[in-house]
Amino acid sequence: MKSPVEVRRLTTPQDVFHAAAEEVVRAADEAVAERGRFVIALSGGSTPKNLYTLLATNARAALPWAQMFFFWSDERQVPPTDPDSNYRMAQEAMLSRVPVPVSNVFRVPAEKPDTEDAALAYERILRQFFSLQAGEIPRFDLILLGLGPDGHTASLFPETAALEEKSRLVVANWVEKLKTYRITFTLPLLNAARCVAFLMSGSEKASALHEVLEGDAPGEKYPAKLVRPAEGKLIWFVDRAAASELSAAR
Ligand code: 6PG
Repeated sequence: MKSPVEVRRLTTPQDVFHAAAEEVVRAADEAVAERGRFVIALSGGSTPKNLYTLLATNARAALPWAQMFFFWSDERQVPPTDPDSNYRMAQEAMLSRVPVPVSNVFRVPAEKPDTEDAALAYERILRQFFSLQAGEIPRFDLILLGLGPDGHTASLFPETAALEEKSRLVVANWVEKLKTYRITFTLPLLNAARCVAFLMSGSEKASALHEVLEGDAPGEKYPAKLVRPAEGKLIWFVDRAAASELSAAR
C-alpha cells in the first residue's frame, strides 16, 4: 500500500528551506538512533542549493556529520569540477564546509566518457555500500528531489526510457530535448526510500505541481507522479507561489 502524500504549504522560499532543513535533522536523528547511520541522496537544481547552504550554517551543529553518507539521485555527464556538476554544487554549498569524512561522500563517476559505464559503476558503488544481494533494492533514509516545470524529477524526464526500468538502481537516460544523457536513480530505487522529500518554490512550478498532485495526465508525461514510496513517507515542501494552482483544501 502506498503511503499518503503530505503537502507542507509554506509561505516564502526561505520557509521552504527552513522546513526542509528541520526534516533533514529529524530524519538524520531517527536514522542514527535506529540504524547508526543516515544515508541521504541529494539532487541538483537551484532550490536544494539554498537548503544545503542552510544545513552547512544553521544546522551545522545539529547534524551527525560523521554518520551521514551522501549520494546523488542524478548527475549530468560532466567531470566533478564542471560548473554543471550536481556533486560540485553540493560540495561547494555544503560538504566542503562541514565535518563530513571524505569517505562518506559517494559521487557519480560522471567523468567517464560512456554514461552507461558511469551508471553501472554507480550501481556497483550502491550495491557494495548497502551489501546487497542480487535483485535487492536498498532503502535510502531520505531522498531529496526537485520538480522541473515539465514534470521531471531526478533525471527522469517525460517519455524517456528510464521510466520503464524495473530492476536497475541507476541508468543512463537519453533526454532528447536536452540532446544529452543524464545519469539517474530509477523509480524502483526512489520508491524504496524511507522518505522522499520534494522541494520547490516559485510560480514557474505551479502548473507542474498542480498536474502532479491533482491532474489527470499520465505519469509518463509528468514523471514526478510516479514517485510514490511503497512503504515510506512522501513530503512536498512548497511555497505559496508554487502552490498557487492547488486546490484550497490541500
Ligand atoms: C538536476 C536535478 C533536477 C532538478 C529539477 C528542479 O540535476 O537538474 O536534479 O531534477 O531537481 O530540475 O530544479 P530547480 O530546483 O533548479 O528548479
